[in-house]
Amino acid sequence: MFIKQLFLTLDSKQDIAPSDNMYEICGWVRTCRTSGSTLGFCNINDGSNYQGLQIVLSCNNMEQESLELFFKSVGIGTYISCKGKMIDSPAKGQKYEMQLHTYKILGSAADGYPLTKNRLSLDTLRNFHHLRARTNTFGSIFRIRSSAMKIVQDYFHDRDYLHLDPNIITTNECEGGAGVFQITERDISKPQTLKMIKDTDNYDWSQDHFNCPAYLTVSSQLQLEALACSMGNVFTLNKSFRSEHSSTTKHVSEFTHLEIEIINDSLDDLMDIGEGLIKYLITQLFNQRIEDLQNLNKFISKGLIKQLTYLKDCEYKRIKYIDIVNEINRDIDSSKKKKIQKKFGINKLSYGDDLGSNHEKYITHKHNGPVFVTHWPLSVKSFYMKQCDDGTCESFDLLMPYGVGELIGGSQREDDYQKLSNMMDNKGIDKESMSFYLDLRKYGSCPHGGFGLGFDRLLMLMTGMNNIKDVIPFPVFYKSCKF
Ligand code: 4AD
Ligand code: MG
Repeated sequence: MFIKQLFLTLDSKQDIAPSDNMYEICGWVRTCRTSGSTLGFCNINDGSNYQGLQIVLSCNNMEQESLELFFKSVGIGTYISCKGKMIDSPAKGQKYEMQLHTYKILGSAADGYPLTKNRLSLDTLRNFHHLRARTNTFGSIFRIRSSAMKIVQDYFHDRDYLHLDPNIITTNECEGGAGVFQITERDISKPQTLKMIKDTDNYDWSQDHFNCPAYLTVSSQLQLEALACSMGNVFTLNKSFRSEHSSTTKHVSEFTHLEIEIINDSLDDLMDIGEGLIKYLITQLFNQRIEDLQNLNKFISKGLIKQLTYLKDCEYKRIKYIDIVNEINRDIDSSKKKKIQKKFGINKLSYGDDLGSNHEKYITHKHNGPVFVTHWPLSVKSFYMKQCDDGTCESFDLLMPYGVGELIGGSQREDDYQKLSNMMDNKGIDKESMSFYLDLRKYGSCPHGGFGLGFDRLLMLMTGMNNIKDVIPFPVFYKSCKF
């Protein structure tokens, strides 16, 4: 019987009761050791689970010659097919092991296979994106990522949201034009071949692929609003792209962006959904991926399970921006000043300042958990946010502890045509390319709101990884696009 995926045997999803049946399983050799010339052990893993399967080689079940050949030719990294009997394992932590009878090397590993050393640092493994998923750490991270993707989708499908992904190539710059990647079909390395507008230095976009300038989207929000304002609650898991010139542990150029838009809601509804989603995800991951979480907890992200349990049960505070600014300034003025400035490196804020990542750390530290910072000044936020009478808007950023910082940005959307139009003028937004967006307020406008959540940052929280590049299979970031 061919076992398609190892986890089936280990999760008892497939009944592999010890018997005389012969089973066949394929995988990459992770470890191999011999005990004399007649006994050996090797662990193979096909990526479907953390433990892999222990293969026992013994001259009781194999020809001595075949055994010796195995020891000589099968090294770490080899892809191999093993045939044998499954028996109860006397070893701790595994239900079964395989008594090897025959084997076939399907792909040997050449000298220089980079993963033969016992413990490679995360930094070193970033040089081998194409192979690092074969390690225990990245195997766990990417299985958790896959499950999280499904759990998040289930969360919204169960609540009757429609999953609709808008276009990635766009003419709209949702967040005001900062940090967009422009795209063209022309070879810009040969400027002399570019079609220019006659007698000017300007490139003639009307001759390009879309007859106009086009960009990779920074957010699918505006189109998602159009869908919500026609069909009700929607979500997308599109990629978004940002050309930020900063190399931080939380920013990449291409990220998975969970965005939702819902109608007839309040700001509190949006925060309830965000908080509910995170708590639901943790509960489900505890059910579905506990082995992988435990692996990370033990070897890489010490304290992970405790952190997740805390995030699952704790209160996510909701505090107005103005109160946060006053609180930080008061704390810095108080006797704690030196301690705070030394530990967090923060300075006092003026009303209208954005929060730096050190402020974010201080806030979540002080409040001992996640904090929704609400009602930001209109001056710091985007044109589309619903305006309040006091110069703020119905908006929030969800700040998370453990070094993640801003995880969600959301708001109620301005649904009044005139107010929106005035704000677009104020902020210098090009109304021509945004006429569709104004139409939504012209024809049957409705109260609505939404948020964007950085799925990769959510994964940092779920895995305890400190660097966003370690939760994305092939990360693309400032000065680095390797695949
Ligand atoms: O706060 P942002 O910029 O909000 C928007 O784009 C809204 N239009 C979303 C909406 O309301 N539909 O981005 C939302 C989230 C951030 O909170 C952060 O988690 C993540 O996207 N994010 C990034 N993640 C990784 N790398 C980057 N460069 C990111 N930029 C934003
Ligand atoms: Mg934001």
